[in-house]
Amino acid sequence: MPETIRTLKGKRKITALTAYDYSMAKILSRAGVDILLVGDSLGMVVLGYRNTHFVTLDDMIRHGQAVVRGNKGSLVVIDMPIGTCDTPEKAVENCRRACEETGARTVKIEGKAESVRAVCQAGISVMGHTGLKPQEVTKYTVQGGDSDSRKRVLDEAKALESAGAFSLILECVPSDLGREVTELLSIPVIGIGAGPHADGQILVSHDMLGFSSDIRPRFVRRYADLSETIFSAVKRYNEDVRNGDYPAESESY
Ligand code: KIV
Repeated sequence: MPETIRTLKGKRKITALTAYDYSMAKILSRAGVDILLVGDSLGMVVLGYRNTHFVTLDDMIRHGQAVVRGNKGSLVVIDMPIGTCDTPEKAVENCRRACEETGARTVKIEGKAESVRAVCQAGISVMGHTGLKPQEVTKYTVQGGDSDSRKRVLDEAKALESAGAFSLILECVPSDLGREVTELLSIPVIGIGAGPHADGQILVSHDMLGFSSDIRPRFVRRYADLSETIFSAVKRYNEDVRNGDYPAESESY
């Protein structure tokens, strides 16, 4: 529940990971992760696009449904893809559709405080997102490095909190700005590349599990090397089938 997440600020750190399908949602939620974000990073790690700009609301709904089916008690948040929340009216209509069709009750919107306000007023819980906003750029760089950009991040964080967001994703900013935003807001700030002071952390699950081998930002800690595990398992399978070692009698009817 978004209310439960909100009460964790100052009590314990919040854990969040992205999930895009039934099987992964089952594992992540069983492991006790607080939030499953059906992120539009789906576009890159699952659908093979070069950025998030090609992801549609239909994509998010299809994957959101699978995650909701696999979830066993985490909060599921559906990321609203590019173009779906450009005006408050459009945002309410699209966020309603995302919730009704997936069964989730929470969405994430990048920036766009006025749309966040309208969606919150329509009774849908919203997670805000500021700092680096992948829907607005094609190159991923640290935000808040100079005083103008720092002010933009701080102003937007405050605006999203006043619009009614129950928590905020803060992406790719220097640690000291991560600390300032976290201390400034009364809602939980969940960082990704925003240093250790945030109220919680989120990572793209494919990155932390070593499932996507190509890009590896500095802030990603690898907890597994799934791509190597899968690769060597498949090599052994090829060998076993080609040698006639698989299937054995015990694996046959
Ligand atoms: O789409 C996504 O995975 C995200 C996270 C990086 C926060 O928005």
